[in-house]
Amino acid sequence: MYLLIPAAGSGKRMGADRNKLLLEVRSKTLIAWTLLAAEAATAINWMGIISQPHDWDDFKAILADLKLTKPVEFIPGGNTRQESVYNGLQALPESAKQVLIHDGARCLATPNLLNNCAEAILSCSGLIAAIPVKDTIKIVDASNVVQSTPKRENLWAAQTPQGFDVKLLKQCHAEGVRQGWEVTDDAALLEKCGIEVQIVPGEETNLKVTTPQDLAIAEFILSHRE
Ligand code: CTP
Ligand code: MG
Repeated sequence: MYLLIPAAGSGKRMGADRNKLLLEVRSKTLIAWTLLAAEAATAINWMGIISQPHDWDDFKAILADLKLTKPVEFIPGGNTRQESVYNGLQALPESAKQVLIHDGARCLATPNLLNNCAEAILSCSGLIAAIPVKDTIKIVDASNVVQSTPKRENLWAAQTPQGFDVKLLKQCHAEGVRQGWEVTDDAALLEKCGIEVQIVPGEETNLKVTTPQDLAIAEFILSHRE
């Protein structure tokens, strides 16, 4: 299975002096943890790191240390995650019929979750790892007035990995460009095109490291795994 890793953000909410994926938890950078999970996932046999060329020297030094057995390609990132994934899709080898997309910032996803998604995408068009939400979620208007409360049983928090049929996802991205759709995950493009997206059970610990507090939580989770 081919795996694209969006890693081209700047980590604004982390507030560090560099891409947050270059920050360390338990003596390894976030991108290293993500790559190690992909290396350990037996179903993955190719990785593409979508990233800004100004980070390539740092990423290449990390890769040199990790000594992965699987091929890793570098793909230039875009100004948004959506553009980054678009670039990644264009860079996939011809032989890629399905693809998994997994955020570099979700460095706690287990190899088992990557394997589950890799297997599931062989029999559907699109999928996302997701977990049921625990909070009651409110729809709120621009003046902070609550409009409604969707039934919690229908609400799931989307994670990555997300898996897709490559041809379909490319078509949906192209349609997104034509229509000017701005989305925060790839599944949303399939939804807008009327294509079914399946849920694969995600992981409670598969958080997207976004803020300094998330670094502390990631540290805690990893310390309990070893
Ligand atoms: N990403 C990307 N290209 C972009 C923006 C984001 O590949 N132009 C990647 C990030 O590197 C990250 C994933 O998409 O692995 C999820 O994005 P997010 O958590 O929002 O990371 P950042 O955009 O770096 O953080 P922030 O939004 O706080 O700036
Ligand atoms: Mg972002």
